[in-house]
Amino acid sequence: MSKSFDVVVIGGGPGGYIAAIRAAQLGMSVACIDEWKNEKGGPAPGGTCTNVGCIPSKALLQSSEHFEHASHGMAEHGVDIKGVKLNLAQMMGRKDSVVKQNNDGILYLFKKNKVSFFHGRGSFVSADAQGYQIAVSGASAETLTAKHVVIATGSIPRELPGAPFDEKQILSNTGALAIDAVPKRLGVIGAGVIGLEMGSVWRRLGSEVTILEAMPVFLGAVDETVAKEAHKLFLKQGLAIEMGVKIGAIKNGKEVSVEYVDTQGKEHKALFDKLIISIGRIPNTIGLSPEAVGLKLDERGFIAVDDQCRATLPNVWAVGDVVRGPMLAHKAEEEGVAVAERIAGQHGHVNFGTIPWVIYTSPEIAWVGRTEQQLKADGVAYKSGSFPFLANGRARALGDTSGLVKFLADAKTDEILGVHIVGPMASELISEAVVAMEFRASAEDIARICHAHPTLSEATKEAALAVDKRALNF
Ligand code: FAD
Ligand code: NAI
Repeated sequence: MSKSFDVVVIGGGPGGYIAAIRAAQLGMSVACIDEWKNEKGGPAPGGTCTNVGCIPSKALLQSSEHFEHASHGMAEHGVDIKGVKLNLAQMMGRKDSVVKQNNDGILYLFKKNKVSFFHGRGSFVSADAQGYQIAVSGASAETLTAKHVVIATGSIPRELPGAPFDEKQILSNTGALAIDAVPKRLGVIGAGVIGLEMGSVWRRLGSEVTILEAMPVFLGAVDETVAKEAHKLFLKQGLAIEMGVKIGAIKNGKEVSVEYVDTQGKEHKALFDKLIISIGRIPNTIGLSPEAVGLKLDERGFIAVDDQCRATLPNVWAVGDVVRGPMLAHKAEEEGVAVAERIAGQHGHVNFGTIPWVIYTSPEIAWVGRTEQQLKADGVAYKSGSFPFLANGRARALGDTSGLVKFLADAKTDEILGVHIVGPMASELISEAVVAMEFRASAEDIARICHAHPTLSEATKEAALAVDKRALNF
């Protein structure tokens, strides 16, 4: 049976499912194909983000933070809790049910928006005057015809040569989110976003965590003031982070042994009960058969697209992790919306200069715009102002005064060029900076806006005031 659609979206992660819903809202007939399976073999749309990424990791970060607070953080508030015990099975079960709620929510949204969902793998077969033929193999076996195709097939974890993931002892993000007993010694290779988030989860739950990182500089893409502060705080929490190492042989036996050489050239052999490898992700085009229609990939395996997400064939688009740019769920979603609107003849737009980043450790790290080191490298004249949470009344009341807010503004025009936060609720605080930058606001604009007292957001206002050297509370 052949079914024809205005738009067929391949991949039901944040890029794909959002593109499908927006295209349906705009009056097009839409199908979305996704192959992710739940433990019963049924559909589990939402992609990496929902199943083994953003959502389960944030569920475990939240639960493990509660555990740590209940164990160590409540006495100063006058709340004495004795005999705190970890129920890991319950914690994992809650995480799984949060994931399922999101899977079900997406299936409901498809129904509500009349998006036809196909559970299986989508592969290009051919192209003709009618459009593109896409075979679905899996639970639904059909061939669909599409006037427009949106590829949103996402990414997969990068393996280290010689250390394949078995998801029992050598873990990708998938295994790292499903460990059934707290490992005594947990190794992590890569002090990036996953390494720090998952390392934090398991440290809070009782593992001795050692993170081995190749680069000599901690979080090189983060503003250096914030990265230095975060590094100091993570070490204080008990994460052992070794920078500038060269990983050698990894052996997976009764335990996992990792040989590495440190910055002084000294050789080490570390033994771990589990090893998470989080050294970045690669685009996923497995089974897509782009060659069947002559679709081009770039030299790194991403679907080649222009700045509008147009691929190298007419009416073929690609969004999210499978194309250039940051691998973030909200970036994928913005591209998905923009592509659906472009297909409908509208002017979809994504501002790559104002995509926020958040690392959900404690304290959280969040930023938007350029870092101080980037401004220096670009030769931009800038002013900076920062404000520590130590001087913020709400942070003191919370009992969480670590970190700071830092503003970078153009030296002449005062336009905000970057905002960098390490501290409590940085993930929420950064939105104000994103809005300000989207409207090309100046630091003075933020400094003159009334912020409720006592809130953490007053630290944002004070950092903006500090750009003009007139912070009031510090
Ligand atoms: P994906 O989410 O990878 O979805 C692609 C979907 O396509 C998958 O369901 C896949 O099975 C399916 N698919 C692939 N090929 C085919 C095919 N041929 N046919 C049918 N289906 C196919 N980002 C954030 O912004 N915030 C976070 O907090 C965050 N946390 C993360 C934590 C972890 C541990 C990880 C690994 C990632 C995290 N990310 C986070 C990144 C985020 O998950 C990705 O950027 C996002 O999922 C990308 O969305 P996507 O739609 O491009 O691809
Ligand atoms: P990453 O790019 O954030 O970090 C990888 C780290 O591994 C880097 O510091 C890199 O220098 C290091 N590395 C690379 N090769 C190495 C080697 N051979 N030995 C030792 N270290 C090595 O990648 P990560 O953590 O795997 O996450 C992948 C992506 O997923 C992120 O870049 C991000 O886009 C997304 N993500 C987003 C989150 C969020 O928004 N909060 C959370 C988790 C993931």
